[in-house]
Amino acid sequence: MFAFRRVDKSDARTITSWRYEPPYNFYNNLQQDAEIDYLLHPQNNFYSILDATGELVAYCSFGQDGQVIGGDYRDEALDIGFGIRPDLTGRGKGVEYAKAVLEFADTLFEPKAFRVTIAAFNKRAIRVWQKLEFEHQQSFERGSDRMQFIILMRTNCII
Ligand SMILES: CC(C)(COP(=O)(O)OP(=O)(O)OC[C@H]1O[C@@H](n2cnc3c(N)ncnc32)[C@H](O)[C@@H]1OP(=O)(O)O)[C@@H](O)C(=O)NCCC(=O)NCCS
Repeated sequence: MFAFRRVDKSDARTITSWRYEPPYNFYNNLQQDAEIDYLLHPQNNFYSILDATGELVAYCSFGQDGQVIGGDYRDEALDIGFGIRPDLTGRGKGVEYAKAVLEFADTLFEPKAFRVTIAAFNKRAIRVWQKLEFEHQQSFERGSDRMQFIILMRTNCII
């Protein structure tokens, strides 16, 4: 149903131009040029997610991009970053997209566990991952702005 490809320059431009409504504007990218380079850097493992018609509908990342300074990441797990195109959010499809990301991640990395780090206020995102069997692992505060985050993990990687 969804196709994945490495983010290219055109996708990176599009993704960094996405604007979420408050309170989710926390996820908006304001320094677009730097952010484009960041999305294109191979180490950050950013993938575009396309629907059946080839439209860019979401993105995901694997690895360090999904971590937030202040969290304890000593357990072995694949960190996942994820965002749906703003106009497609809030339509009850979050689990469908996130499940596709897990399936793709599983074929690519065969991880021991999946992990997501989410701003504590973002109940919508937390709900999506909880519905996919992710469980609370820790809560922490980011030192730079005292923002609260939580880490959820799923140790069963059979999707
Ligand atoms: C987070 C995200 C993936 C969720 O997907 P979505 O399609 O918007 O979410 P849905 O519409 O499927 O809603 C998911 C659940 O949250 C619930 N929800 C929505 N707003 C909520 C709120 N303010 N408080 C509590 N629950 C809420 C919905 O009712 C739904 O639960 P249900 O299935 O039990 O009814 C998507 O909004 C997104 O990409 N947002 C921008 C980036 C982001 O937040 N990233 C976070 C890292 S994952």
